[in-house]
Amino acid sequence: MTQTTSDKTKLAAVGLADDPRIAQAKRLILEAVAEHAAPLVGIAEPIQSLVADYRAMLDEYSGLRGGKVYFPYLGSGIGNGPFVELADGSVKLDLISGIGVHGYGHSHPKLIEAGIDAALCDTVMQGNLQANPSIVDTSRLLVDLAKESGSSISHCFLTTSGAMANENSLKLAFQKNAPANRIVAFTHCFAGRTLALAQLTDKAAYRQGLPDTIAVDYIPFFDEAAPERSTEVAVNHFKYYLKRHPGKYAAIWLELIQGEGGYYSGQTEFFRQLMTVARDNRVAVIADEVQTFGRTSRPYAFQHFGLDDLIDIVTIGKITQVCATIFTDQYKPQPGLISQTFTGSNMTILAANAILQGLVDAGHFGDNGKNMSLHQHFADRLESLSQKHEGCISGPFGIGGMIAFTAFDGSAKQTNELIDRLYAAGLMSFMAGGNPSRVRFLLPLGCAENSHIDLACDIIDEVVGQMAAERA
Ligand SMILES: Cc1ncc(COP(=O)(O)O)c(C=O)c1O
Repeated sequence: MTQTTSDKTKLAAVGLADDPRIAQAKRLILEAVAEHAAPLVGIAEPIQSLVADYRAMLDEYSGLRGGKVYFPYLGSGIGNGPFVELADGSVKLDLISGIGVHGYGHSHPKLIEAGIDAALCDTVMQGNLQANPSIVDTSRLLVDLAKESGSSISHCFLTTSGAMANENSLKLAFQKNAPANRIVAFTHCFAGRTLALAQLTDKAAYRQGLPDTIAVDYIPFFDEAAPERSTEVAVNHFKYYLKRHPGKYAAIWLELIQGEGGYYSGQTEFFRQLMTVARDNRVAVIADEVQTFGRTSRPYAFQHFGLDDLIDIVTIGKITQVCATIFTDQYKPQPGLISQTFTGSNMTILAANAILQGLVDAGHFGDNGKNMSLHQHFADRLESLSQKHEGCISGPFGIGGMIAFTAFDGSAKQTNELIDRLYAAGLMSFMAGGNPSRVRFLLPLGCAENSHIDLACDIIDEVVGQMAAERA
């Protein structure tokens, strides 16, 4: 058959999107979800008749995945903001949000709407060979946000995991700066779980039994107790390495707020000095913002720290649902260097657009924006708890939607015990760092309110009080 010209003036896709039946179906679905989610407004115990099956399902899952799960958690598939119903009927207050992924909490209408729009799309996934316009929106949004305070970022390559975004960033740096083959990174950094990133991540246990891949040298991170001295030490380390391996460094790898490493924050002057040395020596500056993106006073943490003029490549993930490598023109790859089958599902891409726009529109950014004010409230409450339970809670640490405290002696054993007991009492947190270990939260910023933080702090108060009494 030959092609025929069409007299149509409107896309079939627009016709579908504008069909009043779709609007009606959406309204009904949103109404139904809201109605069934409405009772989930507080912590609840399991439904006894579901407990045995739930246990069996968890055991089966642990067996299938080849190792025990961290929490006895299997969601039922519905929640209400930071409250999530588990498949045993219990309800938890989720302030770890899948380690930073569920930034709009559970069953948020914005994301359900994105899901319905995604379900109407012709495919489940978008890919590098065949993309839809929604991916153009995501890429533009991410680049526009990155440029808003003066960075030279102008490109965005989407992918499906933080690790893949990081792998792509390393490729861009190695290719541009070839034959340089080394990376400088901070001690205690975490970059992801591929072979190369396990090498970059400063934790021996995560690369046990793995072959060496890339060459990485480490410099100490910022020390809040000695800002000038720690800056000098880090810069001197960097210069020493540059001298020892001239022309061999492709990139300096910056996690501006160390996430897995324990919620240690750097400081503008510290980063600026290191980044300036990098620029002077033609070393790419990569910021790994997979955990920090969307959580500080600005969309990107490099903007929070005022580093716009010195950034070359940034990676993001988690809260955005899609992951991406964002870079300046200088680091544009040669054809063939980066690609993969999937860029993301229609659901993750449409959700990313709703989340990015939502965070901007709802006033999350700015020195007194929602991210910083939620943090301040949590920090104030933790500070008063640390006075009440002297020697049991120290901190808080972190910035914006990342907040943590050290409990008791900071040992992994006591921290894990506290996290498990908080979980049993209905509050979801997670471990960060080692020596000391910390109890951390990644707030579901899109739905968290001070009242949720108050409830979390009441639980911490009670559980820490019990543990302190048992230790007395
Ligand atoms: C700073 C940082 N980089 C990279 C990653 C890896 O991301 P993903 O687990 O999506 O591969 C993480 C995940 O925790 C992270 O925190």
